[in-house]
Amino acid sequence: MSEHEPVLSVQDLRVDFSIGGAFVPALEGVSFDVARGETLAVVGESGSGKTITSLALMNLLGARGARRQGRAILHRASGPVDLLAQSERAMCDIRGAEIAMIFQEPMTSLNPVQTVGDQICEAIILHEKCKRKEALERAGDLVALVRMPDPKRQLRAYPHQLSGGMRQRVMIAMALSCSPRLLIADEPTTALDVTIQAQILWLLRELQEKLDMGMIFVTHDLGVVNQVASRVCVMYSGQIVEQGPVRQVFDTPSHPYTRGLIRSIPRGRSAARLYALPGRVPPIAARPRGCLFAPRCQHALDGLCTTERPAPVEVAPGHAARCKRLDHLPAFERAPADVA
Ligand SMILES: Nc1ncnc2c1ncn2[C@@H]1O[C@H](COP(=O)(O)OP(=O)(O)OP(=O)(O)O)[C@@H](O)[C@H]1O
Ligand code: SF4
Ligand SMILES: [Mg+2]
Repeated sequence: MSEHEPVLSVQDLRVDFSIGGAFVPALEGVSFDVARGETLAVVGESGSGKTITSLALMNLLGARGARRQGRAILHRASGPVDLLAQSERAMCDIRGAEIAMIFQEPMTSLNPVQTVGDQICEAIILHEKCKRKEALERAGDLVALVRMPDPKRQLRAYPHQLSGGMRQRVMIAMALSCSPRLLIADEPTTALDVTIQAQILWLLRELQEKLDMGMIFVTHDLGVVNQVASRVCVMYSGQIVEQGPVRQVFDTPSHPYTRGLIRSIPRGRSAARLYALPGRVPPIAARPRGCLFAPRCQHALDGLCTTERPAPVEVAPGHAARCKRLDHLPAFERAPADVA
């Protein structure tokens, strides 16, 4: 548990999807905490379960036959509430007032035939139940808060008239319209070029501090984690295989998967990767027995690693990894920096 006031505590979250008449596990016991004013990064390759985790918390999995188990305690001003035990009606209120989510591609979440001003106003009216005049004023404040230049002109624009970075700022403004205690940002910068990505990361960090929100920042790019987060969860195949303070996980990664991800971050002046983690995350219906990472792990031992899922082992206070061979792994060595 974080030393600050917790805003969300996820305990043993499990999600199964009904496939061909049987439940197949997609998330297998995900647990983490987010404190107020803290950013937790959730990182992992494509298919590792990052979005399923976010959608399960928001009750937005949509797919009929998705089964959720576990607890996700949101600490509200009025008292704690288990997000997994709420009716859809109650979740509508919670989503409006306490938790907001922003997605990777704003174009799919914005209405192309409505001005962004109208869309922000609608979000405000929905959450604050206020009159249009007040909503317009607040929309102007929000657009200024997310640092959009010339707010009046931007509010009159349609989504296609804005750049990708500006559209993402509109999405952030809409998410903030309910003054959430928790913001879930699912790959909010991956569709943007590097300079704009840096600006949006900077903006999110600034807003999060200013508004004292908890933030879950989902990314497949370990390279951006230390720019935004103080703690990180590394996900693989529906489990958190390592979590801890960002500095510590980067300096002394314990799990072979985390080590592989860190080695594959481009280093030095060229953006070339010196190392690429071989293989890929298996589909949920084809997960191996035992350690989920075993088929890709150079340290796997038949029998030990291939019979049951490894439990999390604490390697330092607040830093844990799911690996059965932690005591036998060699010291971590980074690939040499690319100084070309
Ligand atoms: N409705 C569904 N039914 C069955 N399987 C699903 C469903 N939604 C997602 N999955 C599977 O769950 C796994 C995790 O998906 P998820 O979208 O959470 O990955 P992710 O980590 O967000 O990846 P990405 O970086 O590509 O966004 C994937 O194997 C995906 O195919
Ligand atoms: S438990 Fe075995 S297979 Fe899994 S990460 Fe550790 S060494 Fe590799
Ligand atoms: Mg995703």
